Amino acid sequence: MAPTIIQLAETSSTNSAAIELLSKGRPAEGSIIVTDHQTDGRGIDTNKWESEKGKNLTFSLILYPAFTADQQFILNKAVSLGIFDFLVAELPGHKVSIKWPNDIYIGDKKACGILIQNSVIGNRLDYVVVGIGLNVNQTVFFSNAPNPVSLKKISGKDYNLQEILKQVLQCIFKRYKQVKPDTFHTIENDYQFALYRRMEWYEYLVKGVEVSARITGTNAYGQLLLETRNDQILICDLKEVKFILE
Ligand code: BTN
Repeated sequence: MAPTIIQLAETSSTNSAAIELLSKGRPAEGSIIVTDHQTDGRGIDTNKWESEKGKNLTFSLILYPAFTADQQFILNKAVSLGIFDFLVAELPGHKVSIKWPNDIYIGDKKACGILIQNSVIGNRLDYVVVGIGLNVNQTVFFSNAPNPVSLKKISGKDYNLQEILKQVLQCIFKRYKQVKPDTFHTIENDYQFALYRRMEWYEYLVKGVEVSARITGTNAYGQLLLETRNDQILICDLKEVKFILE
């Protein structure tokens, strides 16, 4: 079965629409739901995702990876790298990076957020919905998100969303093909080197305490590794660490 592209004028959230679709059947791997407008776009935790109607890419990709649930962080890395690759090619001369675990940054600002939702059966992934919000043509942001940016805000150019979607998908699939044992190391290395603020000293809030530290990488479980000034390694889960952004 060939992947389908479902284009919706409006939906609450493309992730919710994809999950609903999966409750009724099994669309081909690589199928996507894309919309011009989300009325209830969702971010990590209870955050909302702001995206002005018709200005940005908001879509969800359906995948059926063959690996076990405990290896799912590799998929997170592959998708993040796909978008990272796209932005590096699109914005030469700009510093693109991946703010752990999967925000894509241009300089110190966030251009893209990723919300991955899984269904797990036993220790196997039944399906994965990869929700991507990439800010493209929006120039004014109203939510309380601390530091949004878009391609247009950086380059001054207007972009064709269909064209951007095609290119972003190509980049993601190229990385997705590397999610196999003989190329895991490529994803692993590239992800580590793409990390925002890697090996640079900054202040972090770790379990509520301000710490001066530098990111040395992530471990096999996807946890962030922070080295403190007195050579301690702090192993952090998502909720335990907060980047202090200027
Ligand atoms: C985050 O950074 O908090 C993740 C944001 C993810 C936003 C995308 S937009 C398409 C998909 N549908 C949603 O409701 N959320 C994701």
